[in-house]
Amino acid sequence: MKLMICTSNKKKFEELYSILESLKKDANLDLEFVSPPKEIEVEEYANTFLSNAYLKAKAYYDAFGIPALADDSGLVVEALSDNLERPGVYSSRFYKDSFGSNVLKEDDFKLSKDELNNLKVLRLLEKEENRKAKFVSVVAIVLSNNYGIFGEGELKGSIAKEPSGNFGFGYDPIFIPEGYATTLANIENKDKISHRRKALESVFFILKKVL
Ligand code: IMP
Repeated sequence: MKLMICTSNKKKFEELYSILESLKKDANLDLEFVSPPKEIEVEEYANTFLSNAYLKAKAYYDAFGIPALADDSGLVVEALSDNLERPGVYSSRFYKDSFGSNVLKEDDFKLSKDELNNLKVLRLLEKEENRKAKFVSVVAIVLSNNYGIFGEGELKGSIAKEPSGNFGFGYDPIFIPEGYATTLANIENKDKISHRRKALESVFFILKKVL
């Protein structure tokens, strides 16, 4: 069976592909992971990781008629969250969010999107002692018009005082996983411990039973 990996984020694609290949080998499943024939614009208008993962996978399934896998993921920082988890489902565009927008100055906007997101989190936590955070990933697989399966994974940790490291993407340079003394962007085997691996393991558990 062909399974489309639906994301426009190149780094996320690489992580999903590499974890999926290792899970496929362990489960001895006849799967071929492919890219979608072309990228499509999906509006992630829902307010949970689960709903957004489903929206993405379903949109790709509807467009191409091939079983589709999508991940919606993000960072949740305890001290920045109230009834809404932050950056949460808005992780990729947190730098543009009206919440805490005064901490970024005009001059900062020469930085990349990821650097701006990291800078905003660090500035918002400047005087904060509670630096607890977690990464969340929810993976949806749409197998047919009215059949989808899901998996969720978390990685607990804390926010560093400054960015460090070049592996990974997004908030990895400011996130220290529990039990480690350095950021995720300094950890070569991120795929062994990540929220994304846990989410994929959990959805694979179901996939093995239904295929
Ligand atoms: P999505 O593509 O809408 O799921 O956006 C996810 C955003 O969350 C990314 O742009 C990153 O900013 C952040 N994110 C998700 N997963 C990770 C990760 O594994 N490491 C670092 N940042 C992540």
